[in-house]
Amino acid sequence: MYGKWNINHNICGQRYIPKITIFYKFVLLFCIISIFGILVSSFCSGNNYQEDFEDDDFTVGFHSDDDKSHKNNDKIAQEMSQDIRVLCWIMTGPTNHKKKAQHVKATWGKRCNVLLFMSSINDTNLPSVALSVGEGRNNLWAKTKEAFKYVYKNYINDVDWFMKADDDTYVIVENLRLMLSSYNSSEPLYFGSRLKPFVKQGYMSGGAGYVLSKEALRRFIEDSLPDKDKCRQDNGGDEDVEMGKCLNNVEVKAVDTRDGYGRGRFFPMIPEHHIIPKLKKLEKNTWYWKMAYHETKDGLDCCSDYAISFHYVPPNMMYVLEYLIYHLRPYGITN
Ligand SMILES: *[C@@H]1O[C@H](CO)[C@@H](O)[C@H](O)[C@H]1NC(C)=O
Ligand SMILES: *[C@@H]1O[C@H](CO)[C@@H](O)[C@H](O)[C@H]1NC(C)=O
Repeated sequence: MYGKWNINHNICGQRYIPKITIFYKFVLLFCIISIFGILVSSFCSGNNYQEDFEDDDFTVGFHSDDDKSHKNNDKIAQEMSQDIRVLCWIMTGPTNHKKKAQHVKATWGKRCNVLLFMSSINDTNLPSVALSVGEGRNNLWAKTKEAFKYVYKNYINDVDWFMKADDDTYVIVENLRLMLSSYNSSEPLYFGSRLKPFVKQGYMSGGAGYVLSKEALRRFIEDSLPDKDKCRQDNGGDEDVEMGKCLNNVEVKAVDTRDGYGRGRFFPMIPEHHIIPKLKKLEKNTWYWKMAYHETKDGLDCCSDYAISFHYVPPNMMYVLEYLIYHLRPYGITN
């Protein structure tokens, strides 16, 4: 290296080389620092894939319904969907229609018997229902009440089960139907990721999604909501906690949704955070392990093979889950 630079830089008979070398050393150092900086910043933003797609209004292609490898594979699921009718309503808002809600519609939402998006404006593309409530966290309880009133008024005789989920919840609807197939929708029942505090029998996390039987919804609307001693009347409070109190006060039973191995089925976080124990020490995650109604296990024992829901799933991860759950198959292994 040195020899190469030395040859032609002897200006006016003076040996100018040392200065040039120092100059180039600085240039080189500057370049290395810049490149390092660029690498670090791209690594950090690339790591956070929640933000990567956040503003994107993108579409993802699916295999054709006639695709040989899938045709008629879902016979049992199709039959079940006739018998166990599930309405799913998604809590969303105008700024999330394109960013999040449309990806729910393109992925798991299509498997519900009825899919509704609850917003404050009527967007005919989605479509969404315009409830007359304000947007924002402080109105979530008001929105939940209005959404269930709308659903009760328009759909109570059309389906058996009513699920509320967020626009970043991912649901495996077939596994929801499998669990519900053991229950009677004429009984007052309520399913989800059960948390301990605030309500005697516990309450179901809002983000993991929760499910009411037809009778639970009837009691909520007819008996609990109109009574200020049973149900909070103003807009404030946490939507899921208030729901838990209202249902508890009209004897709707919070069901233990773990499977026969004691593994959970509804989850308030992404799979990664339930599977890998050390991630539960992340500050934003600790609440769940403190509040969970049932003791949870680490590793793959966390989660049922027939798991139903996960929360904080960004749109791009919804398509990845679609691929992993409905398409990717290990050849030679059947169940
Ligand atoms: C939304 O608006 C359209 C057109 O005005 C109307 O036909 C439709 O019923 C509305 N939908 C909802 C869910 O409010
Ligand atoms: C479902 O529950 C209702 C109300 O308790 C009861 O009348 C009905 O017989 C039950 N149906 C079945 C199939 O068990």
